[in-house]
Amino acid sequence: MKTHVVILEARGGTDKGAYGYRVDSRAIADSLRKKKWSAEIIFYSDENRGEIYRHIVTKAGAYISRVNPGNLKDETGYFQMLKELVENGIQGLPHPDAMVSYGAKNAVEKLKESDLVPNDVYSYYSFEDFKENFIKTLATGVRVLKQNRGSTGEGIWRVEVIEPGKSTNSEEVSLDSKVKCTEAKDNHVETMRLSEFIDFCVQYLEGPSGMLLDMPFLERIKEGEIRVFMLRKKPVNIVHKKPADTPDAFSATLFSGAKYTYDSPEKWPDLMRLIQNNLNAIIEKLGGYEIPLIWTADFILDTDKDTGKDKYVLGEINASCVGFSTHLELSEDVAEEVIRLMEAEDIVNKRWTSFTI
Ligand SMILES: Nc1ncnc2c1ncn2[C@@H]1O[C@H](COP(=O)(O)OP(=O)(O)O)[C@@H](O)[C@H]1O
Ligand SMILES: [Mg+2]
Repeated sequence: MKTHVVILEARGGTDKGAYGYRVDSRAIADSLRKKKWSAEIIFYSDENRGEIYRHIVTKAGAYISRVNPGNLKDETGYFQMLKELVENGIQGLPHPDAMVSYGAKNAVEKLKESDLVPNDVYSYYSFEDFKENFIKTLATGVRVLKQNRGSTGEGIWRVEVIEPGKSTNSEEVSLDSKVKCTEAKDNHVETMRLSEFIDFCVQYLEGPSGMLLDMPFLERIKEGEIRVFMLRKKPVNIVHKKPADTPDAFSATLFSGAKYTYDSPEKWPDLMRLIQNNLNAIIEKLGGYEIPLIWTADFILDTDKDTGKDKYVLGEINASCVGFSTHLELSEDVAEEVIRLMEAEDIVNKRWTSFTI
């Protein structure tokens, strides 16, 4: 087994320290070295793709991807390289397909048969489908529409009917209705006809990863979004993100003025139980891949209509470039998880050797 790990990053962005790389990547590399493994950080670029690939294939046992594919000019080359690496026996942390299936907004919809997500959540992949169904879901109450790209609240819209049009009924909101649209990026409000808003959304459905997730607006977002920071199957940290205290604010992004506080998972026993009970469902419904090394699950509180009790609803998963620069000590747990996983795999591979003679 090769005890060398390559950490992949992308150049640019605002998350790099004076040292040039992400500070939390450096912490992971240092923690691996402390445990007698070796690690290096490499900037991915399409130009150097072949060289990076050959280097990883010959030197490393695993890669840790810490790139937000959405920030690359074109993510095709990066994903292709990762696929080739895992096909050639390199442990992918995470597997490129897992990165997509966990990180895409429709992950929430895929989980709707579990206890994590309510049933009235939908994904749209074509403009026609969106246009036909959104007027129906909007008739049931305030909705949140989420585009697939980004992670900064851009293209995440709260949509509320404020003046029903002529033929609005309990089944459908008519296209001439007036809607109030609030974007999570900065909580700014725009008022327009529903037809105009629907046409505006065509941009989110373009391209191969174009999609929209449609879910109920959860008003208890005012109490905050609860981010669970996961190392494979283990919750290790909680970030409680409270939106700004202004009437229209529903966004938990820092840019929009939300306030963050940190907690240990033990302080949230009900949520931890919910996650433990649903981990297998998550793995299975998101494609059966090895669970990502570092990922986050974001929850919003809701009230169960039947019991009146608190209920956590999963709003989003992130799995491609999760940072922990506020809690660098977590790098020790990260390194431990990497080594534990690699050693477990090694035992299996030794016992079940390949058939090549
Ligand atoms: N169903 C919802 N109800 C209320 N607020 C929501 C809902 N979904 C998302 N939000 C708010 O919008 C913000 C951005 O949505 P999110 O799904 O996290 O997208 P992004 O990828 O941009 O982070 C969240 O941080 C949360 O504050
Ligand atoms: Mg988010």
